[in-house]
Amino acid sequence: MTDLRKIVIPVAGLGTRVLPASKVIPKEMLTVVDKPVIQYVIEEAVDAGFTEIILVTRASKKSIEDHFAPHPELESALEAKGKTALLDSVRDILPANVAISTAFQNQPLGLGHAVLCAADLIGDDDFAVSLPDVLIFHADGDHAHDLKAIVAAFKQNHAAQIMVEAVPDDQVSSYGIVDCGGAEFHPGESHNVIAMVEKPSLESAPSNQSIIGRYILPARTMALLKQTSPGAGGEIQLTDAIDALIAEMPVQANSMQGRTYDCGNKLGYLVANIQYGLNHPEIGAELAAWLKKQDL
Ligand code: G1P
Repeated sequence: MTDLRKIVIPVAGLGTRVLPASKVIPKEMLTVVDKPVIQYVIEEAVDAGFTEIILVTRASKKSIEDHFAPHPELESALEAKGKTALLDSVRDILPANVAISTAFQNQPLGLGHAVLCAADLIGDDDFAVSLPDVLIFHADGDHAHDLKAIVAAFKQNHAAQIMVEAVPDDQVSSYGIVDCGGAEFHPGESHNVIAMVEKPSLESAPSNQSIIGRYILPARTMALLKQTSPGAGGEIQLTDAIDALIAEMPVQANSMQGRTYDCGNKLGYLVANIQYGLNHPEIGAELAAWLKKQDL
């Protein structure tokens, strides 16, 4: 095992489920209340201890990197006007010890292919993968709670960790699904995975425990990805590479404790705005009062 410093965040997708909003603005830059979705995902990673953020991106999505870079003109204007709170919100979004680097995915060949595009930056290190559509929410404000839990489980159990949650039957075919031999899942627990399958039909699905998009993986995963042929949807699937990993080392599914909001689709995005709005110190109380008054 190596130090866990690196996290791969694939952001090269076309965002077709949230068009037309994502035609020019990357879907990761759409805002939930007052921050782009990607900022929540990167802040979660930083809070869980990751210091090397690797964005797998495409040329048309440069605004994602720009959001985390200094903006001297804006900063001096806010400084001159004494707008300290606003200045703090745009300056030093990330701590000084955190670096963002980029790798490019020029063809949409699947999630496994996107992760493989970061192979040179990962080298021989163990790493995490975080999918930026999904926000994880904890009512106590520690939105990194589950990511911290799988980092700890990886180190303690010497097993790859895949975060999962149960989904209703009609959603099983939209996700990667884990087979843990019928193990009963309790929040926060990890169980050994026997097999993983990407987007199975409901009839062939081994369970309803879905992969939500947070993974802690050994360096070896990259070599397995290189050998992975196209799978579900004709794409190179990360799920298939991890399924191959099971033959070599333990892989565990960890049942998450927070709530997920899928901002990659319209309803999930809207609901995320309401949830994060209700919890926002500036507008939460007023939003709650407004919602109560509505005859919806
Ligand atoms: C990807 C993964 C899938 C996972 C899902 C979570 O699928 O391949 O295993 O369950 O993310 O959102 P996608 O949504 O990119 O089709």
